[in-house]
Amino acid sequence: MKQIKDIDCSKKRVFLRTDFNVPMDDKLNITDDSRIKRALPTINYLIDNNAAIIIASHLGRPKGSFNSKLSLKPAANWLSDILGKKVTFCNDFTSAEGKKLIDNIKPGEILFLENLRFYSGEEKNDPNFAKQLANICDIYVNDAFGLAHRAHASVSAITKFAKVASAGFLLYRECNYLKKAMQNPKRPLVAIIGGAKISSKIGALKNLLNYADKIIIAGAIANTFLKVKGIDIKASKIDEKAIEDVKLIIKTAEQKNIPIHLPEDCVAAERIASDALTFQCRIDEMPENFMALDIGLRSFQIFEKALKDAKTIIWSGTFGVFELFYPFGYGTESMVNIITKSPAFTLIGGGDTAAAIKQLKFKKKASYISTGGGAFLSFLSGQRMPAIEALK
Ligand code: 3PG
Repeated sequence: MKQIKDIDCSKKRVFLRTDFNVPMDDKLNITDDSRIKRALPTINYLIDNNAAIIIASHLGRPKGSFNSKLSLKPAANWLSDILGKKVTFCNDFTSAEGKKLIDNIKPGEILFLENLRFYSGEEKNDPNFAKQLANICDIYVNDAFGLAHRAHASVSAITKFAKVASAGFLLYRECNYLKKAMQNPKRPLVAIIGGAKISSKIGALKNLLNYADKIIIAGAIANTFLKVKGIDIKASKIDEKAIEDVKLIIKTAEQKNIPIHLPEDCVAAERIASDALTFQCRIDEMPENFMALDIGLRSFQIFEKALKDAKTIIWSGTFGVFELFYPFGYGTESMVNIITKSPAFTLIGGGDTAAAIKQLKFKKKASYISTGGGAFLSFLSGQRMPAIEALK
């Protein structure tokens, strides 16, 4: 994979594909700018190397038509504030006005294109749309790891038409860190999988059985595992459709001698509410109508022990109902505490987990926090990554 540092960008028009799919509130204020900040090394490198920079991204899922709530103008303004530099916004790069802006961009300047998903060709990986994008630049740079699992025009088909295609610093680093953790890990490798939706984690769990030495399962997805193991989990939610997959995962783990650590106790409540009555108990001793909504102290100790000798840790998915930090955020908080203190190489990913870590503001950091949500899970699942393949 070619990197930008191997290319002469000076006085060249560079199309930089970023993933500025950032969360915004009702007033279109950006509530987490991590993805913008993580693209800064590439943007600054291009500025320092005198490139004329055209930044492009998607935001949300507008399905091929304009939606003012999903305009990237706030992201362009945000970037301008961070850089302390003018960022010109281009409403439509295909219009006469847009073409003029592109023709007139000078080295060191930044032009920011409107949401690529306002164009129907983007998500269809339409070669004509990809050609239109490639034609506005001399060099194409992909720095959008969050899109690595998508075959969309600006990350996939575009590489067939761009004169030069390369990876930005962020994409390159992410690929290396992910490979280091999965394919060439220091052992033992412990995978921690949490979260609410088991369907989104089945692929990752199956694939991790080819790499991990131990697996810790928590969050609502642990309920389905416990149920399959014959534990009475009372009113806790399970996914019936995942039962056969879970049986297969447990059987394969047994055959391969990979221990799966599950919670034994929980923070139990009848309702998911901050004022709900909660207490800790063994999961198989919960009263009727109660749900397991976070791990308890005993489970924490089991997981802490399983992580003690870990040399590599991969984590995706929060533990309890983290959104209601009081009273269900303790499990995730304690896990972040262990992981950030661990001497192991620690890789964390999945949008909710990364956001939880940011919210908890721990002083010590994980070795690497992926910018990918779906892309991170696709990687863990061993799926194809079309945008990365396109750069090879
Ligand atoms: C993300 O937020 O995970 C990426 O930007 C991809 O977004 P998408 O799931 O809408 O393709």
